[in-house]
Amino acid sequence: MIYLLEIILIALAVVVVGWIFFIFSFTRQLVATFLKGEAPFVPTKAGILPKIAEALDLAENSTLYDLGCGDARILVACHKTQPKANFVGFEKDFVPYFWAKLRLRMMGLSKNIRIYKKDFFKADFQEATHMFLYLGPSQMKKLAEILGREISNGKKVFSLQFNIPNREAREIVNLGKEKLYIY
Ligand SMILES: C[S@@+](CC[C@H](N)C(=O)[O-])C[C@H]1O[C@@H](n2cnc3c(N)ncnc32)[C@H](O)[C@@H]1O
Repeated sequence: MIYLLEIILIALAVVVVGWIFFIFSFTRQLVATFLKGEAPFVPTKAGILPKIAEALDLAENSTLYDLGCGDARILVACHKTQPKANFVGFEKDFVPYFWAKLRLRMMGLSKNIRIYKKDFFKADFQEATHMFLYLGPSQMKKLAEILGREISNGKKVFSLQFNIPNREAREIVNLGKEKLYIY
């Protein structure tokens, strides 16, 4: 009887702590979205993941960076098409970061896909050959100069739904309601 009570109390504590993290993360994202123009956690639709992976066309020696990787679904989808490539994700928010780490562990992909809890504005993109972004207009504007430099250095940049201001895309892939801008 005492054991059962302990289990119930532990389960309750886990649920309460989980909710506190969720509410904290949700509020932080809401404030960051409205005050700083940061993209919130809105995952790419599952139905278009294979088409995005196909458009990225990774080779064995490619290194894909997802700037704001959310639950890492883009990296996982691309890993399916080219398991020998390297995969790196940056995620600022605790809840999607934690969820991504948990998913990768459950899928046995923790060693193949590296996720960092980090602001991508403070990251170094030197190793990347391909960069994927699904952000928003304000962050694309802030990133325009950095991305321009990376494109000049020969990196391939893919942005879902939001283009890089004042730069013509090399190709635009129609994914139904969404567009993938390729630079
Ligand atoms: C629209 S979601 C896209 C998630 C994922 N790339 C996908 O396609 O499913 C944008 C993500 O970027 C993260 N993010 C926004 N600004 C960030 C920053 N400066 N550094 C790291 N992550 C950031 C958000 O927390 C959010 O999870």
